[in-house]
Amino acid sequence: MNLLYIGAGFVGACSAAVSADSGHETLVFEIDPKKVESLNSGDRAAIEAWIYEDGLVELLERNRDRIRFTNDSVEMTNFVNSADAVFLCLPTPEKAGALGSTDLTYYYQALESLGANLVKRNNGEQTKRVVIVNKSTVPIDQIDQTAKRLTAAGVKNFGVVSNPEFLVEGKAIENSLHPDRVVVGAETEEDFVVMRNVYRRFYDSANVKYIEVNPYEAAAGKLLANFTLFSRIVTTYAVLGRTSEKFPHLSYEALRSVIASDPRIGSWGLYDSLFSGGSCFIKDAASLAFQFDGAGHNPELVRQILAENNNQLELFFDRAQNEAGFDWRGKNLTVLGAAFKQDTNDIRNSGSILFIEKALAAGAEKVTIFDPAASGMCEWYFNPEKKPEYARVKIVASIAEALTDSQVLLLGTDWAMFRSSAEEIIKTVTPPYLIMDGRRLLAARFGELSAAGFDIISVGSPFIAGKK
Ligand code: UGA
Repeated sequence: MNLLYIGAGFVGACSAAVSADSGHETLVFEIDPKKVESLNSGDRAAIEAWIYEDGLVELLERNRDRIRFTNDSVEMTNFVNSADAVFLCLPTPEKAGALGSTDLTYYYQALESLGANLVKRNNGEQTKRVVIVNKSTVPIDQIDQTAKRLTAAGVKNFGVVSNPEFLVEGKAIENSLHPDRVVVGAETEEDFVVMRNVYRRFYDSANVKYIEVNPYEAAAGKLLANFTLFSRIVTTYAVLGRTSEKFPHLSYEALRSVIASDPRIGSWGLYDSLFSGGSCFIKDAASLAFQFDGAGHNPELVRQILAENNNQLELFFDRAQNEAGFDWRGKNLTVLGAAFKQDTNDIRNSGSILFIEKALAAGAEKVTIFDPAASGMCEWYFNPEKKPEYARVKIVASIAEALTDSQVLLLGTDWAMFRSSAEEIIKTVTPPYLIMDGRRLLAARFGELSAAGFDIISVGSPFIAGKK
């Protein structure tokens, strides 16, 4: 089949690579020329500077003959002539200050230029049927707007399908090659057939749940799945985490193993952290609340989950002053991990970044960050032209360098390598020193570290004062 993807973000690039690997001719249209050049280059460093996903480089290399990235609209126009399906993989962020309303600017811009190309296909005769597939997370009734706009642009002989993406960042390729489910929402059998052919390797697989529903159910299902996961994580912070912080004699890990031993509960979502970030959960919960509001249903419970996630970060940050008497003014902060979670370079809604903003506002003199994958993203984010205080932020290339000359440490991302950073800490810095463990990465070493004089504030533990 001939498949066009619009947008080369995590979702677009990774699912296009998997489509090429499934034997389809795949073109990815992306407006950013630098990104196009990097993704076509075959060069690991250039590709990973944009999208750091395990296995992506290898998959692109293996399918070199079947996948291309372009920002050339003529190439796109030519490809559209024979395209069986067009996948829309555009960012759909939350509108600033609009309580969860989705900003569809990028989506509509892309749709407009797609429409202008689709009407010209087959010398304007539009003889080949094409399926437009929503992969971006969109409001429940988005399909109606998409179809209306394409019809108004004169596009004929098309169907609109909702095919939400369920991949997890950091495991995007693994998840796309071995999904647990594929959800396709279509209105006609004809469109279901096209999608079965796109996903033949999964449709035929005994290990993949291939779910066919209507397009509204597919879109709503994605929002609800994300809300269910998000509320579980946030409840974990607010109830399990708080219990082990507030009552003596309780270890977070012991409580978690008791709870997770019930197979109905399982272990996913029971990891304590300073904040649940990324580009999906927060935006999707806000969108759900906004849509509840519009439908006349009280969105309070959904908004409460969002508020509790923010509260988690506030409480954690404030514990430095409230429990350790720590004054941020003039202090140097070391940050291990800037990505919103391990195995990605994505720093969107990262707890570490939000924590750094707070430390700077509270008067921290200097912030030194080490992250094994997100240095480039941090350089871009902490550009002093955006805010003068970003000149106080430095990005370095090793744990030891980051620890040098600081009085407080934040462990902000759950990169596996930080679990063994206790030796480095003991070797490099001298107490009095405050360790703020936002991921419980050093939980097994808290006794040893406090005996060596380190004060410790960790999510899921009461304050541990260092031996004086
Ligand atoms: C999430 C969902 O897990 C995917 O199923 C969904 O497809 C995706 O959003 C999306 O909508 O595209 P992702 O944003 O990649 O995936 O990240 P998660 O692994 O779910 O983690 C989200 C945040 O919660 C991270 O900051 C993570 O560190 C935190 N988290 C996760 C915890 O604090 N505790 C946990 O137990 C799990």
